[in-house]
Amino acid sequence: MSCFADDCLPMATTTPLVVIGITLILAWLLHRLLKWKSLGWQRCDPVLPPGSLGLPLLGETLQFFSWSSSLDMSPFLKKRLQRYGPIFKTNLLGKDLIVSLDTELNNYVTQQEEKAFQIWYPESFMRIMGENNIVSASGSLHKYMRNMVLRVFGPENLRLLLLKDVHSAVSMSLASWAEKQSIELKTASANMILSVTAKWLIGYDTSASSEELWKFYDIRGLLAFPLNVPGTAFYRCVQGRKNLMKVLKQLIDGRRKNAKPLERKNFVDLVIDELKKERPVLNEEVAFNLLFALLFASFETTSSAITVILKFLTDNPKALQELTEEHEQILKQRTDPNSEITWDEYKSMKFTSCVIHESLRLANIAPVLFRKAKQDVQIKGYTIPEGWIVMICPAAVHLNPTTYNHPIVFNPWRWKDISEPVGGSNDFLAFGWGSRFCVGADFAKLQITIFLHYLTTKYRWKVVSGGNMVLSPGLAFPKGCHIEIAPKS
Ligand code: HEM
Repeated sequence: MSCFADDCLPMATTTPLVVIGITLILAWLLHRLLKWKSLGWQRCDPVLPPGSLGLPLLGETLQFFSWSSSLDMSPFLKKRLQRYGPIFKTNLLGKDLIVSLDTELNNYVTQQEEKAFQIWYPESFMRIMGENNIVSASGSLHKYMRNMVLRVFGPENLRLLLLKDVHSAVSMSLASWAEKQSIELKTASANMILSVTAKWLIGYDTSASSEELWKFYDIRGLLAFPLNVPGTAFYRCVQGRKNLMKVLKQLIDGRRKNAKPLERKNFVDLVIDELKKERPVLNEEVAFNLLFALLFASFETTSSAITVILKFLTDNPKALQELTEEHEQILKQRTDPNSEITWDEYKSMKFTSCVIHESLRLANIAPVLFRKAKQDVQIKGYTIPEGWIVMICPAAVHLNPTTYNHPIVFNPWRWKDISEPVGGSNDFLAFGWGSRFCVGADFAKLQITIFLHYLTTKYRWKVVSGGNMVLSPGLAFPKGCHIEIAPKS
């Protein structure tokens, strides 16, 4: 009897797995059949772009996320561009998609926001950001939210208040980094940025506890299979969101009970004012999700930009020299070289702007933009059926050799001849384009510029370990980027 039971044991454990496997494959086949039926039988045959939908369930997800240490377009995109042309279909994270490496389709999709297309992001992203947020909002609610954000991070506040705060955060951070043997640049700059953003968003002093805010958080979970299982990046991201939401709730409850009128309102005060209205436009859930999205966006993106810019400058001494000269020239023109940076000085930093644009062009910090077709769209001989997703890859635009000569070379000087793409353009999608253009773009550029000003005029630095960047397809530094900085003598 015992011998019989032992023999059966492996079968007893493998049989349910086999049954689950077969059920999943049958469900996937049924799903495909229904989709084909809805496309092919009920309408006259749409011509979908060429391409492969890959393996059941996985699609081509693994190939898409594979690492590449080159600045060139990822092997995934390059291979399919050669095989199918600039518009092709694939399946990523369980979703059929049409990939656009085509300028005309990109233009059409981004300019048709809320008409033929609407914004869409994968389930993992929406579950982390919260279902109702600025990304999913449309029409007047979307405009209202953008205006609220611009009341804090718009040009007027940047000039009058944030310039000064960024100056203090940068000078204090650099001084404290110089006292350490080395720092990991992305983490340290994220904390520096958070000290300004958290103050203006939630009135939160990060000097004591910035790590608390992002405990457990892992950005890789944003674009992932939404499996909320311990050990996955998605799970860590969900834990990070829960943690931050707890802090936000305590803060807002505290402010509500203890609402002393402030000279200048931070974003939480605007939210509280809004929620107090008889007919508020935002409800509590939307307001919390907006705060989360803003904290996340400012924490994650600008710190990546600073890291990649320093990496490019380390590898390109000529660019570093011209940048340093631009900033030293500003000091020479001042009566007091130690005085704070002024708005006019900030606006005069032309080569710095070239360095920022060139770095963002190559690094593609937001590697993909998604939109969903609201109706069947006929373009370039193909049909994009209603409900299908188009994934725009800015890398294809940024590495187009007809627009950017020798596209994978870091060449900030090329921007001297290009007028600044204010509000984005069809050749520069680093901050998006159209009505969804990044609402924090000016704030991000201000922070990076002031950081470079203080760094190049007062400090020297060298990379002491890590610093190798990969694209997967988002920018990552697998071993970090550890730098040592010291005051200039
Ligand atoms: C280097 C830094 C940054 C980069 C590269 C970047 C990139 C982008 C891109 C590409 C989009 C458009 C997404 C789409 O069309 O689907 C976007 C939107 C957005 N960004 Fe940024 N961003 C940066 C910094 C920031 C900062 C500092 C904030 C907040 C203060 C911010 C807040 C937002 C928000 C709220 C949206 C959504 C806008 C909307 O849907 O109307 N970003 N960003």
